[in-house]
Amino acid sequence: MTVFSHRDFDGHERIVFAHDAASGLRAIIAVHSTRLGPAAGGCRMWPYASDDEALADVLRLSRGMTYKNAVAGLDLGGGKAVIIADPKTQKTTELMRSFGRAINDLGGSYITAEDVGIDVADMEIVRETTRHVAGLSRGAHASGDPSPVTARGVFEGLRLAVAMRLQRETLGGVRVAVQGLGHVGRHLCALLHEAGAVLVVSDIDTTRMREVVEAYGASAVAANEIMQVDADVFAPCALGGILNETIIPALRVAVVAGAANNQLAGPGIAQALHERGILYVPDYALNAGGIINVAREIAGISDPNWVEERFAGMLANIDEILREASERDVSPDAIAAEFARRRLATS
Ligand code: NAI
Repeated sequence: MTVFSHRDFDGHERIVFAHDAASGLRAIIAVHSTRLGPAAGGCRMWPYASDDEALADVLRLSRGMTYKNAVAGLDLGGGKAVIIADPKTQKTTELMRSFGRAINDLGGSYITAEDVGIDVADMEIVRETTRHVAGLSRGAHASGDPSPVTARGVFEGLRLAVAMRLQRETLGGVRVAVQGLGHVGRHLCALLHEAGAVLVVSDIDTTRMREVVEAYGASAVAANEIMQVDADVFAPCALGGILNETIIPALRVAVVAGAANNQLAGPGIAQALHERGILYVPDYALNAGGIINVAREIAGISDPNWVEERFAGMLANIDEILREASERDVSPDAIAAEFARRRLATS
């Protein structure tokens, strides 16, 4: 395993490998940047096939948080944590407490919250061993599950992209293929259904898939088919790295807009999507609703308008990113990266 020469290292400030034999904890906590404030980003629990896979994921995710928080105008840096375990079978109270102790040792330079495989109840347990945790359901400024706000942001941004690319003012009859029906994906399906969109969905968890099919009249397809569905929009809401050179020619959509972090498998993919005429809404600009919600809790603010103002700012940014990309005939991803770098350079 390489660390400092890892292709995703990108100047990370701190990487902690946390192990606790008693609870079985194996976690990696990555702090990419504290330039704008304490690093904030969720904790992911996933049964990674190898340590290398976990390291690559956490490095890419934490760097993404630096960009996300910068574009969203938050005074937070970028960080992320991964716990190598299966959330369905290996999650225990002791494991989460032990993870909290590892966070606590960082003295507040990283603040954790929910991500894939982790929910509010888990964060309540983490709170027993550290105060550097947000997305809680109890306490003075508790913000709860960030997923509904994330989904709302994805929905509104998706709508902007559809208006721009397809000249459709409403989502009525627009076909959306949703990959991943977890916390965010399910909420997104509810909003899309309410707006009259036609849903095609997929999840490796068949129970979740059945629930969404029944609730929203969606059609279900197998996990390996969702990216080839003939639709207007593809909304990735599962894991990252799904958009690669092999899949791009097979996509049959005009817009890609979803919640999943790090959708692009590598450099050059955003440009390839642009060349295929597919409007890709940069993930970290689109899925910032959740961290905006969490940021209120971190800042110790109760006023819900604080979130709404920043949420509106996020949508204004997306609109500007899409317009500028269209005017300059470049990928929106390139414009979003410029936004982030500008904020980082001037703060
Ligand atoms: P979750 O763990 O609740 O749901 C993920 C879902 O994806 C699960 O139902 C899982 O079975 C499914 N899945 C995994 N691999 C799949 C595949 N190959 N095909 C179809 N389904 C698959 O996670 P959550 O919180 O909904 O997050 C989804 C994505 O959005 C993640 O990439 C996360 O990092 C990102 N995100 C989440 C935010 C939040 O507020 N929860 C905020 C910003 C980004």
